[in-house]
Amino acid sequence: MAGNGKDGKVVANVVKAAVDRYGASQDELIPILNEVNREIGYLPGEALNEISRLLRVPKSHLFSVASFYRMLSTKPRGKHVIQFCESAPCHVAGGREVWIAVKEYLNIDEDQTTPDGKWTLLTTSCLGVCGVGPVMVIDDDIYGNVEPSQVPSILEKYH
Ligand code: FES
Repeated sequence: MAGNGKDGKVVANVVKAAVDRYGASQDELIPILNEVNREIGYLPGEALNEISRLLRVPKSHLFSVASFYRMLSTKPRGKHVIQFCESAPCHVAGGREVWIAVKEYLNIDEDQTTPDGKWTLLTTSCLGVCGVGPVMVIDDDIYGNVEPSQVPSILEKYH
């Protein structure tokens, strides 16, 4: 991550690196957005302006792409991102109770970030590991067979 000082120069450099890597083509829009999002933590307005300019894509289109893909965000996200599977197999395996436990522990709702900037809570559709549902992903870590009582100890591992 490029840290929290998302000044224009850092943003411009990150965008330039991504465009250099994939090429200034509209066909490469998703990988470019993905990389910038990963590097900065989200897609700030300056980044969208720069991508719009370099790829000759209207900014409105960038916003609609960013809102379609869950891994992209135009708002700052927390230091850790929880993706909670809300598809039916996880749901029937007890996902609802775990979801409630996560929300209560963090005291936030879906698509929100804790006031201290530590956590962002997202839902996701099936992650492809339904056999171990309920499933949640924290950053790059997958947790399966999660029980509500385990939620505090899982979240406390993250600083
Ligand atoms: S339904 Fe949750 S991982 Fe498939």
